[in-house]
Amino acid sequence: MNRKKLDFEKKTVLVTGCAGFIGSNLIIRLAKSGYGINLIGIDDLNDYYDVELKKYRLREIEKATEKAKKVSWRFMKGSIADKEFIDEIFKRYKPEIVVNLAAQAGVRYSLVDPDSYIESNIIGFFHILEACRHTYENGDGVKHFVYASSSSVYGMNKKFPYSTQDMTDSPVSLYAATKKSNELMAYAYSKLYGIPCTGLRFFTVFGPAGRPDMAYFQFTDQLRRGETIRIFNYGNCKRDFTYIDDIVEGVVRVMADIPEGRTGEGGEPLPPCRVYNIGNSRPENLLDFVEILQQELVRAKVLPYDFNFDKHKELVPMQPGDVPVTYADVSELEHDFGFRPKTDLRAGLRAFAEWYQSYYA
Ligand SMILES: NC(=O)c1ccc[n+]([C@@H]2O[C@H](COP(=O)([O-])OP(=O)(O)OC[C@H]3O[C@@H](n4cnc5c(N)ncnc54)[C@H](O)[C@@H]3O)[C@@H](O)[C@H]2O)c1
Repeated sequence: MNRKKLDFEKKTVLVTGCAGFIGSNLIIRLAKSGYGINLIGIDDLNDYYDVELKKYRLREIEKATEKAKKVSWRFMKGSIADKEFIDEIFKRYKPEIVVNLAAQAGVRYSLVDPDSYIESNIIGFFHILEACRHTYENGDGVKHFVYASSSSVYGMNKKFPYSTQDMTDSPVSLYAATKKSNELMAYAYSKLYGIPCTGLRFFTVFGPAGRPDMAYFQFTDQLRRGETIRIFNYGNCKRDFTYIDDIVEGVVRVMADIPEGRTGEGGEPLPPCRVYNIGNSRPENLLDFVEILQQELVRAKVLPYDFNFDKHKELVPMQPGDVPVTYADVSELEHDFGFRPKTDLRAGLRAFAEWYQSYYA
């Protein structure tokens, strides 16, 4: 694919889902990058999980952006499903780079409240695409639209590691179906209106101030309360756990690299649209993961040194919508950006456990 470099200096960057785990870390990273940059964040601060954690992340952004020279930061509370709100923001601030991370995340919750997935992931995503499209009517418009997809699009794919060349037509949850739909919608808008688009399939992201609905965070909460943790598929799960700093590094590199249209093998014009995996590419057994988490929780004094872990563990069957293995082929990411996630599991869980202790102590 033909590509063009984009300099962030003096650019206006819009990040949706900015109070979320990945969004907040991305903004802090951009603020610290040394560029003179205008950062705009949108989040509806919904209560899918603890709103206080989202506010904490916004305070962390405030601190980072206040310290950074030449950086402006503006937060706007609202939903991407609110068309007027989105159109007004695009009209007023004219973002040049748009990173859409706002979504109803989580596989299991899509069985509980499917409406929220359609509202944020389909309708909201559509509003962002529409707003991007109209930026070309008066001036240069959006230079790069980057959005979060997910490893869940691979469904029950039996071929490992998962490659972006693999079929992704068999989602096993509504969440996965919305993420796959995002990729198709982005492709169509890229083809129709020439919007340079990059979709990023993230693989199980973890780290400090992460998402409380994810297994490592839930296990920690439950063990701290003296409850029993339930390890799904009897522990026979493998996950490509990817540390947040690696994800953010990947997103920043991708943002600065604009895809261009090209000619297909049959001479047909192809749109400036692509998809990458970002994952650790080293799947870890869930039981090993839990073992390291235990050790790090004791080390960080979240749990006492004599905590009886065996008494607080139950091996249970697989949950609907879950997949037993996620494993990313990141050769395209490495080829195009000279980068692949590198943080090892223990280092990442150590950072999480230390943050958890300082936050909840
Ligand atoms: N964390 C992971 O392991 C992972 C894996 C694969 C894909 N993803 C995707 O990456 C993106 C970011 O994930 P995250 O882990 O930071 O999740 P997150 O839930 O922490 O962040 C998403 C943020 O978006 C906000 N939001 C949700 N719906 C909104 C709406 N309609 N309008 C405005 N804001 C809205 C939420 O309040 C939240 O703060 C999501 O699109 C998610 O689906 C994450």
